[in-house]
Amino acid sequence: MNVPNHIAIILDGNGRWAKAKGMPRSYGHVKGCANLEKICDHIKDVGVKYLTVYAFSTENWKRSKEEVEGLMKLFRSYLKKCMKSAKKNNMRVKIIGDITAFDEDIQQSIIELEEYSKDFDSIYFQIALNYGSRDEIKRAVRKLAKDVENGELKPEEIEESTIESYLDTAGIPDPDLLIRTSGEQRLSNYLLWQLAYTEFYFTDVAWPDFGKKELIEAIEKYNGRDRRYGGVKEDTNV
Ligand code: IPE
Ligand code: IPE
Ligand code: MG
Repeated sequence: MNVPNHIAIILDGNGRWAKAKGMPRSYGHVKGCANLEKICDHIKDVGVKYLTVYAFSTENWKRSKEEVEGLMKLFRSYLKKCMKSAKKNNMRVKIIGDITAFDEDIQQSIIELEEYSKDFDSIYFQIALNYGSRDEIKRAVRKLAKDVENGELKPEEIEESTIESYLDTAGIPDPDLLIRTSGEQRLSNYLLWQLAYTEFYFTDVAWPDFGKKELIEAIEKYNGRDRRYGGVKEDTNV
């Protein structure tokens, strides 16, 4: 099986999953968060090198105060637990998104986790927190414009690779496969630049139920795809 080097996942459906069980949305987030711990093990087992998950978007602040506070509480405990998981899986963890919007202690936990795991290299795990692709591009353009203003770079020297190097995902290869759980078929402002040639896989399975079996199913579907990058596929039968 040809295993994708980089999988990106939009973890969706926690709220609906809980509602279907007659439980509050917060219960779905707790179970979704527990599943996030497991997916790193599965990724390692199947041999995927990079995993990037969408856990909280720049738009998710619009949810009720109660839901946002519940999510912050979950992030606090998750970021601490993630240290163990990083060590166990020899996994580097990086947060993408604008973390300055979070409370000081959450920002501190993020810095500690990144620092602690920076030399681990079996898998590379990116968590998108307060992430929005348009916001990422805005921040990148501002930084780039400043460097031009300071004379460090000329406008005609700006290449695609220059833009990439200003994004939160600098140095990380583009995803090969994007998975969105729970039935919606949209990007919701996720990795707009990076997903230019990525294969998309949508499943009705809600995030808390997305396990190893579902991951392998997604990879198998990906294997049947004819990836082209604009060219013509080589005839492999001759
Ligand atoms: C995804 O589940 C988790 C976050 C966005 C934080 P949702 O909370 O979006 O669940 P649904 O889509 O409402 O079911
Ligand atoms: C996308 O899911 C963001 C995350 C999974 C963190 P949403 O549930 O917030 O997206 P929409 O509102 O359905 O587009
Ligand atoms: Mg949703």
